[in-house]
Amino acid sequence: MEKKPQDGRKGAPHREVPPVVGLLLAMALMNLLLYLCLDWLFISPRRAAPGPGHCPYGSFRMGQMKTCSPWLSCQELRTEVRQLKRVGEGAVKRVFLSEWKERKVALSRLTGLEMKDDFLHGLQMLKSLQSKHVVTLLGFCEDDNTILTEYHPLGSLSSLEETLNLSRYQHVNTWQQRLQLAMDYVSIINYLHHSPLGTLVMCDSNDLPKTLSQYLLTSNFSIVVNDLDALPLVNRSTGTFVKCGHRELHGDFVAPEQLWPYGEDTPFQDHLMPSYDEKTDIWKIPDVSSFLLGQVEGSDMVRFHLFDIHKACKSQAPAERPTAQDVLDTYRKVLNSLRDTVMSQTREML
Ligand SMILES: Nc1ncnc2c1ncn2[C@@H]1O[C@H](COP(=O)(O)OP(=O)(O)OP(=O)(O)O)[C@@H](O)[C@H]1O
Ligand SMILES: [Mg+2]
Repeated sequence: MEKKPQDGRKGAPHREVPPVVGLLLAMALMNLLLYLCLDWLFISPRRAAPGPGHCPYGSFRMGQMKTCSPWLSCQELRTEVRQLKRVGEGAVKRVFLSEWKERKVALSRLTGLEMKDDFLHGLQMLKSLQSKHVVTLLGFCEDDNTILTEYHPLGSLSSLEETLNLSRYQHVNTWQQRLQLAMDYVSIINYLHHSPLGTLVMCDSNDLPKTLSQYLLTSNFSIVVNDLDALPLVNRSTGTFVKCGHRELHGDFVAPEQLWPYGEDTPFQDHLMPSYDEKTDIWKIPDVSSFLLGQVEGSDMVRFHLFDIHKACKSQAPAERPTAQDVLDTYRKVLNSLRDTVMSQTREML
């Protein structure tokens, strides 16, 4: 009699997969996953934050707040806000990290009464321009010359390089993320040029460091404008144009039409200085964007693709410069086409 097999299993005998084949299979699987996830990898990891635009005028929402709260009054500012430490200062405001209901907030105090007009103009603009492009206003007290806004721990764009060089932010220190920042910046300029109040010019921008200090880097790596103290209005239909301040401007960061046109032999006189329009902001875009692009792998490739639009921004004649919307459209096209190129190159390699 024939002996039955002990384990009682029928069919082909079980064969072990050689380890090399297993390894190859695992690698193929990883490649497939990587291939499928490329879109996700190349799209910047921004978290969608609810904008203040969702709250009715006179109220705000920030962080995890579910509902909108009315702007804080003088009384609430005096009793509920605890000033902690100074985090910034400009000509108009001294800014303090503060605490309100266990949340971090920024309390701005007027530096001196001679700047009160600028302070009040800035407050008026903050109230009127609340949107995803502008720092969230939480409250104000004109009697005490204070303004309360959302606190952004990453500070102003002046410290962008320091921030992105920290090892915990290496994953966002890429040409994609930096081009996104440049797009945020141009979106803000575009918003100001088409604001609910009309065409506003970002005048607090006579040199690069000053310009950078007017914008804050949010924790999800987007940009909001913070300082709206010098935003004069252009109105072509009434022939209203602007002058950024009453003093002579120098250097090539400002647009050529902002320079004294009558030569060194004629002393500067404010009333003789011609006025200009919002195209001064367009002139400055290439310098600010170039700073935002920095020197990471791929930045120069982006700069190369932005060469033509940046050249147009630097046209001597303001009317020949593109609009902020034109610049933004070009940036978007460049971002999309470079992303596609990088993705297809990576796919070919896989
Ligand atoms: N909400 C905030 N969160 C974090 N830092 C802030 C905030 N608001 C302002 N700061 C810091 O304070 C600095 C000065 O603020 P701001 O530009 O409003 O002052 P200013 O006196 O109006 O400036 P300027 O001299 O340009 O008119 C900013 O550059 C930034 O570093
Ligand atoms: Mg400022």
